[in-house]
Amino acid sequence: VTVSVANSGGSPTSPYMYGIMFEDINQSGDGGLYAELISNRAFQNQSLKSWSAVGDSTVTLDTTTPLSWALPRSAKVKSGKGKTAGLKNSGYWGIDVKKADTYTGSFYSYGAYKGNFKASLVSDITNQTLASTKIKSKSVADSWTQHTFELHPAKNAANSNNSFVLEFTPCKETELKFNLISLFPPTYKNRPNGMRRDLMEKLAELKPSFLRIPGGNNLEGNFAGNHWSWDSTIGPLEQRPGRMGVWEYDNTDGLGLVEYMHWAEDLDVEVVLAVPAGLYLNGDVVPESELGPFVEDALNELEFLKGDISTPYGALRAKLGHPKPWDIKFVEVGNEDNLWGGIDSYKSYRLKIFYDAIKAKYPDIFIFSSTDEFTYKESGRDYHKYTRPDYSVSQFTLFDNWTTTHPVIIGEYATIQNNTGKLEDTNWDNPKNAWSNWIGSVAEAVFLLGAERNADKIWGTCFAPLLQNLNNYQWAPDLISFSANPADTTLSVSYPIIKLFSSARITHTLPTTSKEKPNFGPLYYAAGRGADSSYILKAAVYNSTNSEDVPVNVHFDGLKHGAKATLTVLTAPDGGWAKNTPGHGDAVKETVKHLTVGKGGHVEFSLPDLSVAVLIAGNK
Ligand code: AHR
Repeated sequence: VTVSVANSGGSPTSPYMYGIMFEDINQSGDGGLYAELISNRAFQNQSLKSWSAVGDSTVTLDTTTPLSWALPRSAKVKSGKGKTAGLKNSGYWGIDVKKADTYTGSFYSYGAYKGNFKASLVSDITNQTLASTKIKSKSVADSWTQHTFELHPAKNAANSNNSFVLEFTPCKETELKFNLISLFPPTYKNRPNGMRRDLMEKLAELKPSFLRIPGGNNLEGNFAGNHWSWDSTIGPLEQRPGRMGVWEYDNTDGLGLVEYMHWAEDLDVEVVLAVPAGLYLNGDVVPESELGPFVEDALNELEFLKGDISTPYGALRAKLGHPKPWDIKFVEVGNEDNLWGGIDSYKSYRLKIFYDAIKAKYPDIFIFSSTDEFTYKESGRDYHKYTRPDYSVSQFTLFDNWTTTHPVIIGEYATIQNNTGKLEDTNWDNPKNAWSNWIGSVAEAVFLLGAERNADKIWGTCFAPLLQNLNNYQWAPDLISFSANPADTTLSVSYPIIKLFSSARITHTLPTTSKEKPNFGPLYYAAGRGADSSYILKAAVYNSTNSEDVPVNVHFDGLKHGAKATLTVLTAPDGGWAKNTPGHGDAVKETVKHLTVGKGGHVEFSLPDLSVAVLIAGNK
């Protein structure tokens, strides 16, 4: 295949081409990225899930003495005849215990007790104590008292089958209540109430430019009133009631709006903040006459984030420790408002009302419609696609004729089912693949290349879902799978592609021509200038004839004879069926070749079938 890359023309690209999308699905927040180790720490599950009694004590759920309006339930521990009483938490399917780490804990107790508490981490397999500390009780008869402690393990645990135990020594019959029992390992960038380091590092390696939060379906809610509500997710944990999320588990909302902003700060990314727009997953739509409070809520949220401290919500932010406003530049109104019977109301009043109100107060904010089916004034739009490999490849040219007037965030995409021999989109009645496979990931790369060569129309792209707790998930395939044990972390075969493409950003596309007809297939590509005046060709080979290697002769008008080029190629075995699974996470092979640009700016190489490549060359 011959490809000629011009040295002028094309267009500047969006600086946000690669980002990440997060919602609490697959226990990706609670039990995932949010580093809290204690599951059901404040009984927001409305049960004693994850808790058990120590020795012959008994544990019951109690609502007679609420810790706060938000956390009305506590665990009542009644001692038995044994020397010790207390409760034990199994964590989010285990707790990882490392010698090098300090574990920071706290709990509230209620009831008179003069002795010591003992907090420990113990192995479920051997019963061995891995770390333990005494905490002098401050507990009194008629009120809640908070205790804090640290645990310093003496050695690494053999595995993550460990629990947290909180005990006391009863004097005759003792009855104590406990709530908000919390334990954190060191967090990413040492944020209090922060995020799991190893997973955040994997996100940082993707070099994302934006974070789309907080959903996804979890933004919308299952039924009237069940939407994600920003002001329930801020402030002290004692004031966060949590909520039953839409993905079949309770959200503590410990990972709330401020934590999202910290996350964005720590990765140095812009936030695309989705606001609930009055559409619920059961099809309930808020009528126009009742939409006012939703719009006001969105404006309050923006004031909380952006307002100076003279504004009521800006002052609230300052009171919570953040006098400096955050800079929210992008807002999305709702999520997938083309689904669940939402499109008519979205077209007739919902997008318009939010758009006009937000723009009136914050003209600098760019607003995305949550669907590609409808735009309003200068809104961008959101395109979601979960599909099959061949269909994904067929979308390479999808954006060619779209307008630049309404830039698109590809807010969710993935190949989730296999080819059928016909060009078919997803059949939602069929199961999704458990793991991304390589043919699907290469097909996603082709789709991304279609976005890249239309980078004046495409604002950004993000794979979804981002994260999967292997012990409780609702949606596969996902980009990063994990458990309590960091050794289980598995990067899908799509991950290295996104990392490669994101690391080689085209800042200005350049027009390409080819002698071959059709121009594209089996080699798909996009080209342009990168930082430091480099020239970049990104390519993918999908289904070459007889699976043969594709010879590529690319000529850059702008490259001089003798210039140096680096070619990075990703391949995987098994004819497209390769996948990464826990313990087998290295299916994708990266090969790097150093090439020299020939006469007339030509670079020659060949690419295997089902490969993804980036060529970066520079005259210096
Ligand atoms: O990513 C999983 C779900 O797919 C999202 O919550 C929703 O937006 C989409 O339908």
